[in-house]
Amino acid sequence: MPSIAMLTPIECYMKRRILVVLMAVVAIGVSAQNVSVNKARFKQGDDLSWAKPEMDDASWSEIDITKRWDDQGFPQNTRSYGWYRIHVNIPKSVFQGADQRNALILHMPKADDVDECFLNGKLIGSTGRMPTNAAGYFPASNMVRNYVVDVKKDGLRLDADNVIAVRVYNRGGSGGLYNNPLTITCPKAGDGLSMSLTDTNVGQYHYDIEVNNAYLESTNGTLDVTITDRETGAKVKSLTKKLTLKRNKPVRVTVPYSMDKICQLTTTYTDAKTGKVLSESRQLKYVLTPAAPATPRFNGAPVWGVRPGSPVIYRFPVSGEKPMKFTCNDLPEGLQLSEDGVLNGKIDKPAILSFTVTAENAKGKASQKFTLKVGVDMIGQTPPMGWNSWNCWGLTVTQEKVMASTKALIDKGLVDYGYSYINIDDGWEAPERNPDGTLDANEKFPSMKGLVDWLHERGLKFGIYSAPGATTCGGYLGSLGYEKEDAEVWNKWGVDYLKYDWCSYENVRREENDWGFASCVRPYLLMQKFLRQQPRDIFYSLGPLGGTQVYLWGLYCDGNSWRTAQDINDTWHSIYDVGFRQQLGKSQYSSIGHWNDPDMLVVGKVGYGLGENTDGLRETRLTPDEQYTHITLWTLVASNMLIGCDIAQMDDFTLSLLCNNEVNAIDQDILGKQADRVLKEGGIEVWSRPLADGSIAVGIFNTGETDQKVDMKALIPTDKPAKTIRDLWRQKNLSESELNCTIPLHGCRYLKVVMSTCGKSKCDTLK
Ligand code: GLA
Repeated sequence: MPSIAMLTPIECYMKRRILVVLMAVVAIGVSAQNVSVNKARFKQGDDLSWAKPEMDDASWSEIDITKRWDDQGFPQNTRSYGWYRIHVNIPKSVFQGADQRNALILHMPKADDVDECFLNGKLIGSTGRMPTNAAGYFPASNMVRNYVVDVKKDGLRLDADNVIAVRVYNRGGSGGLYNNPLTITCPKAGDGLSMSLTDTNVGQYHYDIEVNNAYLESTNGTLDVTITDRETGAKVKSLTKKLTLKRNKPVRVTVPYSMDKICQLTTTYTDAKTGKVLSESRQLKYVLTPAAPATPRFNGAPVWGVRPGSPVIYRFPVSGEKPMKFTCNDLPEGLQLSEDGVLNGKIDKPAILSFTVTAENAKGKASQKFTLKVGVDMIGQTPPMGWNSWNCWGLTVTQEKVMASTKALIDKGLVDYGYSYINIDDGWEAPERNPDGTLDANEKFPSMKGLVDWLHERGLKFGIYSAPGATTCGGYLGSLGYEKEDAEVWNKWGVDYLKYDWCSYENVRREENDWGFASCVRPYLLMQKFLRQQPRDIFYSLGPLGGTQVYLWGLYCDGNSWRTAQDINDTWHSIYDVGFRQQLGKSQYSSIGHWNDPDMLVVGKVGYGLGENTDGLRETRLTPDEQYTHITLWTLVASNMLIGCDIAQMDDFTLSLLCNNEVNAIDQDILGKQADRVLKEGGIEVWSRPLADGSIAVGIFNTGETDQKVDMKALIPTDKPAKTIRDLWRQKNLSESELNCTIPLHGCRYLKVVMSTCGKSKCDTLK
């Protein structure tokens, strides 16, 4: 068979026509109902006029659209564009035997990594977002691309030549169309029917169920929705609606729900015309945390640590009606307590200082006996709590976004539960260093010092990010060779926390061909030296290090915490891997001031700046049960509790997950002992840790794929009789009869068990 590559370059229109016809002959297979093409004309560069059908592409190269351009000898060209022009004759016979003739589907090859597709000059589809898009670049490599052509409106030519022009953007590495040929098919009955479910909390919590018909002129069917109580099996709500679906006019049905029961929503659409059935099921969000009382309640650990001579910045986390006034009658010299509960000052010598702080509002008052530990190794008495920009904003973080999350942290009351570090992750760095070697923030942060002062005034603390290599993981400037300058600038800004990653330091090790222990600790020790020279406390958080085990030597580098897993994301797979698998056996490496860190939280609206919504966010992909499991396990393993979502958009459900004082108290327990897994049987795992008051915390998890009945009493890892068994999420003591329960798949129960103080046979055991 002659190949198009054998043709001599065609400069004139006639020759181009011959090419088109030849392509139709050699590269297009016409079967009963579909057309398939695997060749195109190709050029690197970008010019929107290349979408026009009359454009002369004769001088362009020939390319196979099933393989990326660099696999065919074209340069990879980071941050570059390439255009494909696919010439195709679409015969009327494509509709042979079809039951709907008003649409065709172009099953496009995949694109690495964003594409825009034009039919005879008209944009008909796009996947991902080009860097020029106002909503921000969004890569979409490996996604299936099926674009729908309206036979009447999209300028399709039947039994004639069409030009399908595809603009592809490649951010880095391999690029171009790949994976499969272009196949053009006629939709089958019911093909264009789709149903989407969106959970939203604007006004009342509700699901928006949208049914759409993309191809049929018009059709009708029935939508059935039921909400079932998962604990009792009772139907809480059911509705049936007849829908008439005009073409591309989605019909929306709104189903309100309340979060006081654990429920499942099931929805089914049955199309009358085609018989097609669409079905979806979702677990509804549910709140277990009881509302906080209006009277003041101290929610934080009764201890804070500081080095001698470093400024004290501590805001007492107290919930209850505002305004609230704080007082202390025995405040040690050198400290000041503001009326709104912020402790400041400085203590020059090592000391253990105890005093009682009282919070009072219109409804009552409460007191906490508090200890300030002053000493060289006193930073991080309990795991740090706060927020970090990475899981929501990724590299799109700005000062404005940081301030919006901080304001919401205060307004929504998270600050009253101890969340106090506001940490900026990667993406703040200027593109170049100053002549004196210092590094400023980039234009997204007009005033870093102003931002930090603003946080400190509110009793909050500020965290920054860098990496020991020449560049950070996100490709910004790292600290290599400028460790001293960076530590000094951070001190000037008032930094209280450093997340020091790894990434490109691997290149240094490679260049030096030094893979030993010394090359792991060297960059971390170097930064440690400069950090500790600063006259303020900087919590030192070490990043994940390639394949090696930072937890083995994090303590040696004076790290206050270290990552014990690679990056988390908002899927069950990740929670299982990062949490259950990678925290196993790690409790021996964690101690007060030196915590294991399984990475930041993925509840709420996250997305790393790359999510599907215009702001780059999406609702976490974890089910409500998985979110309870996530927080339960993280608090058990005494993890850093850094919120990863946009707090400004946080809903009441997420708030209830993060602001349960009894759950958080496990993470912040002053004994500082991380949980171990004590049992794994079938899909059930039990993790437990001892607490400072002599009781134990126990998480019973169902990591299997079906709901499981359990006898919780039999799973509690103690041979002493229990005096009380408290459900921490519900904040209520359980009776014997409540200990047999069903744990839904990926769900959990979280218990605090107080052991009886007397013998097995008598006294105060659980009835
Ligand atoms: C690494 C870290 C992430 C984040 C990014 C920033 O991947 O593990 O948590 O800090 O770098 O580029």
